[in-house]
Amino acid sequence: MLSTFLRAPARRAVFTASFPKALVRRQAAFRRFSTAPPSEPKKSNTALYAALGAATVAGLGYWFYASDAGREAVTAAKSGVQSGKAALNFTPTKEDYQKVYNKVVELVEDAGDYDDGSYGPVLVRLAWHSSGTYDKETKTGGSNYATMRFEPESTHGANAGLNVARDLMEKVKQEFPWISYGDLWTLGGVCAIQEMSGPKIPWRPGRIDGFAANATPDGRLPDATQGADHLRNIFYRMGFNDQEIVALSGAHALGRCHPDRSGFDGPWTFSPTTLTNDYYKLLFDEKWVWKKWNGPKQLEDKKTRSLMMLPTDYVLITDKSYKKFARAYADNQDLFFKDFSAAVSRLFELGVPESQWVTSEPWEMKTKEEQEAEKK
Ligand code: HEM
Repeated sequence: MLSTFLRAPARRAVFTASFPKALVRRQAAFRRFSTAPPSEPKKSNTALYAALGAATVAGLGYWFYASDAGREAVTAAKSGVQSGKAALNFTPTKEDYQKVYNKVVELVEDAGDYDDGSYGPVLVRLAWHSSGTYDKETKTGGSNYATMRFEPESTHGANAGLNVARDLMEKVKQEFPWISYGDLWTLGGVCAIQEMSGPKIPWRPGRIDGFAANATPDGRLPDATQGADHLRNIFYRMGFNDQEIVALSGAHALGRCHPDRSGFDGPWTFSPTTLTNDYYKLLFDEKWVWKKWNGPKQLEDKKTRSLMMLPTDYVLITDKSYKKFARAYADNQDLFFKDFSAAVSRLFELGVPESQWVTSEPWEMKTKEEQEAEKK
């Protein structure tokens, strides 16, 4: 079977940020290991604490002491034990993360009859929902602790259907047990976007696994039935502005809505496994009418009635401030890719304390295509 990625047209535009030269020099100042699988540590595990102590002496405990007080510190301490354990065995390099990326490519391509033949879109949604819970005031939520593994967050209405993506990522985790879930899920999103002809998404490892106590309350993710102000409330809380709201929404060029997940139905574009600026073009170029059906309020294109827009998508061309950016992205895919890349990269880093990053500058992971070209 031809894979979705092979079917996808050649990469239309690639936003390339130059590989940071300072990276190698500054790397030593950052944590150089990732977390082990999230088993709640036993209260008295002398060997592990000894290991952690050794790691700390070696300078690896820097981030541990740099973290905030209170609950976060407790979690950090527990995760520190896990990290100490991981540090004893293995220090992953960029090449190791590239191997994880390549494994995700393999699984995404092996989607058979699932949706439009790719798990890519649902992986992007997992990475976004695990990051978009961030609250900049309380500094809670975000991609750091991968709390969607726990109830009730895993059962929040907004996360319906993401078990598909989490189960897929679990297969990767089995092969690469040293990677934290937060790193795995966000790297999965990066991989999916890049392989679906999207721009490079700068990414770096450093997220740690938290516990159920770190799970976020329901209601932090956007509600598609609402309007422009709701989007502002939700995304300003994460620290984004109007331009970034519009850029991030362009992810809806990918994938589709499922009646058994969100209740909505259908794809936004005719090429749901290739990232383009068609989402914005279609918003402006098509006539959108309310769908008459026994389901939640959504729009459909009058011409083919096969595409959809959520109420929150449609406000991007009715709200004056949003419209300006939507127009710019409809007219210029390179601009969309550039802004999308920057906003997604930041989204996937929400909630991660600076001291946890393994490197000061994010990396660019190589696409499958780039790696194949290198071999020739
Ligand atoms: C602006 C506010 C947003 C709202 C209200 C919203 C809402 C939704 C809804 C209702 C679905 C359908 C879920 C289903 O039935 O399977 C969906 C799917 C999706 N969303 Fe969003 N979303 C928003 C922003 C974003 C952002 C910021 C991203 C990524 C950067 C994103 C990426 C996706 C993707 C890729 C899908 C398709 C998933 C699939 O095909 O399984 N969304 N979104």
